[in-house]
Amino acid sequence: MQSLILQLAGLGYGGDYNPEQWSPEVWREDVALMREAGVNLVTVGVFSWAFLEPAPGRYEFGWLDEVMDLLADHGIFVDLATGTASPPPWFSHAHPESLPVDADGRRLWYGSRQAFCPSSPVYRQAAAALVEQLATRYADHPALALWHVHNEYGCHNPRCYCDVSAAAFRTWLRRRYGSLDDLNRAWGTAFWSQRYTAWEQILPPRATPTFPNPTQLLDFQRFCSDELLECYRLERDILRRITPDVPVTTNLMAASTWELDYWAWGRELDVVSNDHYLWAADPHNHIGLSLAADLTRSLAGGRPWLLMEHSTSAVNWQPRNVAKKPGQARRNSLTHIARGADGALFFQWRASAAGAEKFHSGMVPHAGTDSKIWREVVRLGSDLRSLAEVAGSTVEADVAILLDYSSIWAQEQDSHPSRDMTAVEEIRAWHRTLWRAGITADFAHPGGDLSRYRLVLAPALYLLSAEHAAALASYVHEGGSLVVGPFSGIADENDHIWLGGYPGALRDLLGVRVEEFFPLLEGETIPLSNGATGRIWSELGRATDAEVLATFASGPVAGSPALTRKQHGSGTAWYVATRFDDDDLGKLLSQVTEAAGVRPTVEAPAGVEAVRRRHPDGRTYLFLINHTDDDVTISVEGKDLLTGRTIASPLRLPAGDVAVLQQ
Ligand code: GAL
Repeated sequence: MQSLILQLAGLGYGGDYNPEQWSPEVWREDVALMREAGVNLVTVGVFSWAFLEPAPGRYEFGWLDEVMDLLADHGIFVDLATGTASPPPWFSHAHPESLPVDADGRRLWYGSRQAFCPSSPVYRQAAAALVEQLATRYADHPALALWHVHNEYGCHNPRCYCDVSAAAFRTWLRRRYGSLDDLNRAWGTAFWSQRYTAWEQILPPRATPTFPNPTQLLDFQRFCSDELLECYRLERDILRRITPDVPVTTNLMAASTWELDYWAWGRELDVVSNDHYLWAADPHNHIGLSLAADLTRSLAGGRPWLLMEHSTSAVNWQPRNVAKKPGQARRNSLTHIARGADGALFFQWRASAAGAEKFHSGMVPHAGTDSKIWREVVRLGSDLRSLAEVAGSTVEADVAILLDYSSIWAQEQDSHPSRDMTAVEEIRAWHRTLWRAGITADFAHPGGDLSRYRLVLAPALYLLSAEHAAALASYVHEGGSLVVGPFSGIADENDHIWLGGYPGALRDLLGVRVEEFFPLLEGETIPLSNGATGRIWSELGRATDAEVLATFASGPVAGSPALTRKQHGSGTAWYVATRFDDDDLGKLLSQVTEAAGVRPTVEAPAGVEAVRRRHPDGRTYLFLINHTDDDVTISVEGKDLLTGRTIASPLRLPAGDVAVLQQ
């Protein structure tokens, strides 16, 4: 058993710990309670800058020394935060030029958090100085297990449009294009008289009378992701220099935000960590949770990862902050573990008494330890101890869902054929359909290694470079199965249309040529010849060299292909030219998975999630999570690590319960 964080003998358990909000007497109660709950890892100092550096260059570590020592004395390891996500008022007051500016030119003030421009040199210098001090001070501290750089980069300030950002954007563009001519070509500036004749003329896509240049928008998003990543690297490099043996992370928001290119981020983190919160109003929110976990695992290259934050119960930032039902937090945490996390941490240890998050749940609620939440926290700690041997094992999937952030950004711009043809919802729908079929999926980048997957799904891949299109073609030519969703393969990496008939980048691979899009009006549907119903989208085209499995059955596109399949030796390329509801998509994907030889993890009743983790030595762990209100039976056997009981098939799994079978 090799844990993700070397010092932990098993899975990580704990949360964000903000001792500066409490008195030293409370700290002592905290560590005693942490031990009672089985906490072994806490994140300290995420928002402590104002306490660590109360005045420019005057650092005060006494209080943190005491906290670190107290934690070490109680055998609790620390994920030590660099505290740079919230510059203190003295800093922003002295450097108003470091505050971010929105697209309308409005400066955003301090008084909340993340009020800084990612390109600001003065912010970067101050952050680097604080990190240097922290790393030097705690390099050899026995509690230090992991560095937590910043917090949720880009959560509130993903884009800044100020003059400093404009200059940094130009530098980024010079690196990307080398010459103005190349930039003009890539941006298609022959359109609307947008031709640039000097670099100084180029701006971030600030508010403008109508649609801005699409490639300018796309490049600006790429730049903003890179610029924040640069802030991370700056801190990471200082930490690596001073403490080369301590792993570094920053908490991502995979599947909560799509603003940053997390494929690039994943490569830079020693430990990939993620924050996930249920969207209370979403009836499928436990499936959304699985998607976040699958995506995080994929960003980690399949290696174990850390759930850095989730909630024991309600959050404070949704319109209606619904509390979690008994057992729900346990299912949530164990689902993340099932899908590859080597630890489950919460925001936050003790619910705040003041501030904007005072109504956010914590591990120690306002009510104290005589509470549902505390009892569940203690139980989860004991569950995670029982699962210690799971640490270090990985999840295997036969299916990959392609996801490219640039493509999402480009697809979700305005001035397209239909505002309904969005990417993220489609990706979620295809993942949800696999989830319901009991099939575990990874996410992959179209340029990544796809060879180990039996099946690759491309629900929404509007932007596709020639190189990535060729990679998909080789995957199919080597025997893989690929399913392509509508409005994919339309434009190249500069968002220029592939000419000659849609989907230009994939026309030959799919054997289909589309000449015109016929998006549907709001609520309109179109019948298909196989009994399914098309939504949002239809198109006029023909199969040049593919088997037509269904056509559009009415209206101006009647007879055009809606579903096709083309064989390439033992490889197959499917094309879906419209959108389906979950039932029709379920039927299609069941046909596709069967043809590709992809099987569910186990046969389990609807609403029971089954995922397997595996150690290289062959030991496996089958996680079974019953999300239904009914007791179910499943034909499986093994030793349930949570109860210690040996199960002879069938397993009876009560409503809302979880079993983890060692097999
Ligand atoms: C996260 C953030 C935490 C806390 C939490 C509340 O986005 O990292 O600091 O604000 O949300 O749900």
